[in-house]
Amino acid sequence: MVVVGTGSVGAAVADAIVLQGLCDELVLINHHPDKATGLAMDLMDGTEFIGRFVSVRRGDWSDCRDADVVIVTAGPKPKPGETRFQELGAAIDIVDPILAEIRDSGFDGILIMVSNPVDVLSWFAWKRTGLPRAQVIGSGAALDTARLKAIIGEITRLDPRMVSGYVIGEHGESQFVPWSTVSFIGKSFTQYLEDNRDRYEGVTLEGIEERTRERGMTIKRLRGGTSQGIAATVAGITRTILWNERRVLPVSTLIDGEYEYDEHDVFLSLPVALDASGVGDFVDLHLTDEELARFHASARVVREHCAMIADRL
Ligand SMILES: NC(=O)c1ccc[n+]([C@@H]2O[C@H](COP(=O)([O-])OP(=O)(O)OC[C@H]3O[C@@H](n4cnc5c(N)ncnc54)[C@H](O)[C@@H]3O)[C@@H](O)[C@H]2O)c1
Repeated sequence: MVVVGTGSVGAAVADAIVLQGLCDELVLINHHPDKATGLAMDLMDGTEFIGRFVSVRRGDWSDCRDADVVIVTAGPKPKPGETRFQELGAAIDIVDPILAEIRDSGFDGILIMVSNPVDVLSWFAWKRTGLPRAQVIGSGAALDTARLKAIIGEITRLDPRMVSGYVIGEHGESQFVPWSTVSFIGKSFTQYLEDNRDRYEGVTLEGIEERTRERGMTIKRLRGGTSQGIAATVAGITRTILWNERRVLPVSTLIDGEYEYDEHDVFLSLPVALDASGVGDFVDLHLTDEELARFHASARVVREHCAMIADRL
């Protein structure tokens, strides 16, 4: 497995992969090679005390050729207050040459994009590498979904993993929660909230959704950036793929006419079954008309930003 970029996110992703023992060998690539060497040494120093030995080393683009999974985390350091779309200009200058190197290595595994704006860059990565659609994935709203669950867990003081549901659309401002499809301890979450009105005074679906959307910005304001949540999310996506788990996760994937979503040539998050070949079946969520309208609005904003970088292709 290869991780490209060893900044806050790349280092945390590498750490999660090693601690969970997800692969035999982890290769780190950075445009400052010493940083990759240093991180590899640092991670190897924990070997004595972790569950499974993972060999970690600095590598180069030729290591991508035989990798099962390549994860791209390189990008400009996100600034507090800056939206993900505001990172696009600087990000594409960094990510485009990286994608060309990955393509030229002969890589034919699963490419996981993490750099933001992740939906736009995943679309670009699919075009630039020429990989089959199933093999290009953006971490997308898998993180936002984990955040939604964490927030519901904080409110209810119950295990967040009992929430079944997804944040879908863009990993950004236009993301949304199709509440008609979210359930919790055996009933719809909307029903759960109604049944417990007196316990959760002031808690609304809109409020939970807003907190989910703002969570990344809030963390950035508090600690300068996010890394642990995205690292656990990327490790979870990777585990599903490498271990052929067929877990359904809302990752950013090419939408091409599936079900009632009726979108084409755009990367957005929808729940899909992930296995060793990458993206498999889509889930038909049966969105309400209002939810479908929000999905199309999300597609529009992502597509507009794809158009801004399409001339590079
Ligand atoms: N998808 C998500 O949910 C999510 C969450 C958090 C961060 N991110 C994104 O991850 C990316 C990295 O964030 P970070 O906090 O780790 O930033 P960081 O500054 O800590 O690390 C950036 C990494 O990119 C590398 N890099 C920078 N310029 C480069 C270049 N010209 N060529 C090759 N590599 C280069 C740096 O060496 C470093 O390893 C950003 O795009 C950020 O928006 C995504």
